[in-house]
Amino acid sequence: MYIDKYRLDGKVALITGGSRGIGRATALGFAEAGATVAIASRKLPDLENVAKEIKKLGRKALPVAAHVGRMEDINNLVSKVTNEFGEIDILVNNAGTSPALASSLDVDERLWDSILNLNLKGLFFLSQAVAKVMKEHGGGKIINVASMDGFKPEANIGTYAISKAGVIMVTKVMALELAQYNIRVNALAPGNVHTRLGDSRFLAMPEYKGEMIKRTPLGRIADPDDMVGAMIYLASDASSFVTGECIVVAGGIFLT
Ligand SMILES: NC(=O)c1ccc[n+]([C@@H]2O[C@H](COP(=O)([O-])OP(=O)(O)OC[C@H]3O[C@@H](n4cnc5c(N)ncnc54)[C@H](OP(=O)(O)O)[C@@H]3O)[C@@H](O)[C@H]2O)c1
Repeated sequence: MYIDKYRLDGKVALITGGSRGIGRATALGFAEAGATVAIASRKLPDLENVAKEIKKLGRKALPVAAHVGRMEDINNLVSKVTNEFGEIDILVNNAGTSPALASSLDVDERLWDSILNLNLKGLFFLSQAVAKVMKEHGGGKIINVASMDGFKPEANIGTYAISKAGVIMVTKVMALELAQYNIRVNALAPGNVHTRLGDSRFLAMPEYKGEMIKRTPLGRIADPDDMVGAMIYLASDASSFVTGECIVVAGGIFLT
């Protein structure tokens, strides 16, 4: 059956930022599709709650505390997952941050480093470490969570936009170089999604939410579940001839 191409039975997925928001929804979606799921973020208790939800679906789960902006934690994360499950078939680089608003005149080195270390450097080096495992095992899929901001900036979140534009280029560079090892690398660019990160922007810029809904042809802010169909598509054999692409899941916002 063609629909079986979307199944992830027997696959091992590692999802960063898996404790809430888009990462949690993806972890549960992958588990429903049949995958074993490792989830990573900084706070273990939050991960343990999601691991329980995954196990209730009848799948194996591994919660790992890791700061994905730190090289030591990245190496430890990859060792823990490969020691437990032997391989990593799917990596979702979802952990991301945007801790404060600042224009390009005001951004300081600390804010720049906190955004770039996680959103771009951590994403790159975790991908590198996991790609080495995938190469040994005959291939895999990497999905990078970018953002609509990686295509079109909004004022005062420019450093975040710069990091996400970088994510789109990491996706293309790695797709080009890793295709020979049967590793496909794609990105997903969400629009506005109700999560802790997304809602913090609405709190910081009260007029922003209404403006975004007005600019979005589908007329609403997304829920994390709205991202899961595209995630499963990119993680599965249904997308077997797709690499180096970025799927925009943003309610048509670029049409206006
Ligand atoms: N929500 C939106 O509107 C939107 C739009 C476009 C793109 N995105 C992207 O979607 C991705 C997921 O964001 P979200 O909206 O789902 O946000 P969220 O609900 O706030 O979740 C962020 C996740 O990342 C983890 N995390 C944060 N800093 C980390 C670090 N240094 N190391 C490891 N994990 C870390 C968090 O857990 P801990 O805090 O416990 O570490 C949490 O699990 C991000 O890449 C974001 O840029 C979101």
